[in-house]
Amino acid sequence: MAAISLAQRLRASAPQVSVGILTADWMSLGSEVDLLERASVDLLHFDVMDGCFCPMLTMGAAIVAGIKTSLLKDVHLMVEEPLSKLEAFVAAGADIITVHAESSRHIHRSLQVLGKMVNANDPARGIVRGLALNPGTALDVIDPVLDELEMVLLLAVNPGWGGQKFIASTRERMRQVRERVGDNVLICLDGGVTRDNVAEIARLGADIIVTGSAVFDGKAALDNARFMQQAVRP
Ligand code: DX5
Ligand code: ZN
Repeated sequence: MAAISLAQRLRASAPQVSVGILTADWMSLGSEVDLLERASVDLLHFDVMDGCFCPMLTMGAAIVAGIKTSLLKDVHLMVEEPLSKLEAFVAAGADIITVHAESSRHIHRSLQVLGKMVNANDPARGIVRGLALNPGTALDVIDPVLDELEMVLLLAVNPGWGGQKFIASTRERMRQVRERVGDNVLICLDGGVTRDNVAEIARLGADIIVTGSAVFDGKAALDNARFMQQAVRP
């Protein structure tokens, strides 16, 4: 029997919480990540911004590689022309790599190239290929690349910052994406997730729910992470 891929495993164990480190205490990144392991979080979300695709410049492959963790590395590339950078993120141990539909003329090729790469943590695991859509991008862009992806990431905020408000129309977009992609493609919801809306987002059918500032709020990260975990699996 063929080994079960990471994408299949994530779909079977949905919904999962993926915690973004953007608002973590970077002076104590190691213990911030340990805390997520203690809260039984499975996925660590890296918001890679290049200062061009969105205004802020955050982190690159060196940070992704430098964080040693048992958590799956979920890398969200908010960068222009990601194709030439994919190899570095794969070498850094990315398990999920998401590229933006708006970031390149060669989005099909980027996903195609990614599909031939091998997961550096475990070759049998495979790499989950994600296509991210800004809130203003029509869902039609998914159709031509449907055979070259395992996940669609819907941004519920505009890319660039943590702590923004959830855009309400994302609920309807999520329903339409599920209709479009069927049951075998993962849907990830990213941005504006709070203690108040996380359970509802899980019920809407997101497989992966990204949460950043609602966990790393500078006060009670462990408690917040545990809350999010429990809220998606009542
Ligand atoms: C937005 C990023 C999100 C964001 C999530 O550009 O892709 O991952 O940092 O942060 P919160 O959960 O604070 O909205
Ligand atoms: Zn993100």
